[in-house]
Amino acid sequence: MSEDLKRATFAIISHPDAGKTTMTEKLLWFGRVIRQAGMVKSKQGNYAKSDWMEMEQERGISITSSIMSFPYANRAMHLLDTPGHKDFSEDTYRTLTAVESVLMMIDSAKGVEAQTIKLMEVCRMRDTPIVTFMNKFDRDAMDPFELLDNLENILSIQCIPLTWPIGDGVDFKGVYDLRSKKIVSFKESSDPTDPTIIEAENLDTKEVIDFINHEDIRNKLKEDLEMIEEMMPIFEKEEFLAGIMTPVLFGTALHNFGVKETLDVIAENSPGPAPREVLLPPFEVDSKTKKILPEDKKFTAFVFKIQANMDKRHRDRVAFLRVCSGKFTRNQKIFHVRSGKEIKVSAPLIFQAQDREIAEYALPGDIIGLHDSGKYQIGDTFTEGESLQFTGIPNFAPEIFNKVLLKDPMKAKQLEKGLTQLSEEGTVQLFTRTTTREKILGAVGVLQFEVVKHRLETEYFVKGEYEGHPFVGMRWLKYPDDKTKDEFESKNASNIVIDHKNRPCFSVRSEWDLKLVQEKFPGVKFFKNSDYK
Ligand code: G4P
Repeated sequence: MSEDLKRATFAIISHPDAGKTTMTEKLLWFGRVIRQAGMVKSKQGNYAKSDWMEMEQERGISITSSIMSFPYANRAMHLLDTPGHKDFSEDTYRTLTAVESVLMMIDSAKGVEAQTIKLMEVCRMRDTPIVTFMNKFDRDAMDPFELLDNLENILSIQCIPLTWPIGDGVDFKGVYDLRSKKIVSFKESSDPTDPTIIEAENLDTKEVIDFINHEDIRNKLKEDLEMIEEMMPIFEKEEFLAGIMTPVLFGTALHNFGVKETLDVIAENSPGPAPREVLLPPFEVDSKTKKILPEDKKFTAFVFKIQANMDKRHRDRVAFLRVCSGKFTRNQKIFHVRSGKEIKVSAPLIFQAQDREIAEYALPGDIIGLHDSGKYQIGDTFTEGESLQFTGIPNFAPEIFNKVLLKDPMKAKQLEKGLTQLSEEGTVQLFTRTTTREKILGAVGVLQFEVVKHRLETEYFVKGEYEGHPFVGMRWLKYPDDKTKDEFESKNASNIVIDHKNRPCFSVRSEWDLKLVQEKFPGVKFFKNSDYK
């Protein structure tokens, strides 16, 4: 990807079935990465319903497409996949720590759904700018005003429509572009980059009447446009960049309608690589921080994802690095801060849809993959020699918990080693009860447990039984002083666990329970992520 192109590193967030895969495919089509729509879907279609073994085989395909890069409108677009469905995992959240903006897909018949709310919470941590696409207008949809209200109320973000739907379902005619005051017609065409455009500043022209062809729909559009004119503030880029306001577009990804406009809005408004905060040694919670700017001369990057078994034949592992400043050049020696070692990177990978290639260089906003023999962890920082640690790549509160029961007690050591490594790699979270030393695994998606089970068996030769645990959540704890800490921990001993970095956490048995404890100990702070934010 040319050095001159400003990077736009983004991800799609949505609830399963809202149309993320379909949209991804269409974006790649507009980005000319794929020639034929259907490629991504057919591969991921199997992937969603296959069991773990098949899935691992599929991973070679779907994971290399976890970063999709293409040039578009003078930007280098990097679309990072956020796994959903059955493979929803902490990786889904972590991907959001590596992007500068997000495309939120909403199923227009359903409005905001559970997984979108969770993903939005992660976006809020860095006030990530969000572009919204109201999908599936070719089907019966909620009223557009109702949809905007739904978004504003549930996600507390101001919605500014840039287009407006004309009808829905079988009566869906197209959208009114509020910026150009033109109608963009919805008709299935072989070339969706060239839809029919109708001048529509005046909705009473013969052309508009002939096109909408339905008195009620035209009247409704008139009323809607008046309301928008009266009530809606205009789109302010600054507020979008602050994550306070989201531009909203309507359409149908399946029928390619509204997709190009959405990509244009992303290309035009998405921020380039942003400054990022680093901790200075000794890297404690209250250590001093400084900002790394993308234009800083020296190279810095952090690991946001580690993928094992990318290629079944090699059983390799790849650490995905997000470049934050400077320029990385192939064969450069870079400093791995946590181990204090310098490494020469002779075969960094870049990802282009289904392919991976050797990267000659990488700039802020780019993602490169390093071959990893188990040395790297999520959140690791790389520099040109400085001791720094990027913040903002935390663990996220798991919602599902399991105990591992060993089938062969002689394998306890291997189990411990395997679990420690898998938790450092970010595959699953490992908690230890302070009272009984019992080990508890925590995840945000069920598939994480399947991955752990499989990898413990194949890489550490440990067979285990997995038993559900009654915890429903986890909170990282911050105490105001040692006295409160002692009192809190003695009163709640059976709920206290430590994470893999020895940080105290409160295991939640029910929301009600949590509320009571919070009321009893107002001085103690409970956090949903290990960045204490
Ligand atoms: P996801 O990745 O967010 O889970 O959603 P995905 O794109 O897989 O879409 C979920 C279902 O919704 C698919 O149907 C897809 O074809 C459909 N869909 C996506 N966008 C639109 C749209 O704009 N309009 C309509 N009508 N449908 C849409 P499916 O039946 O589950 O799969 P398939 O057999 O069609 O592939």
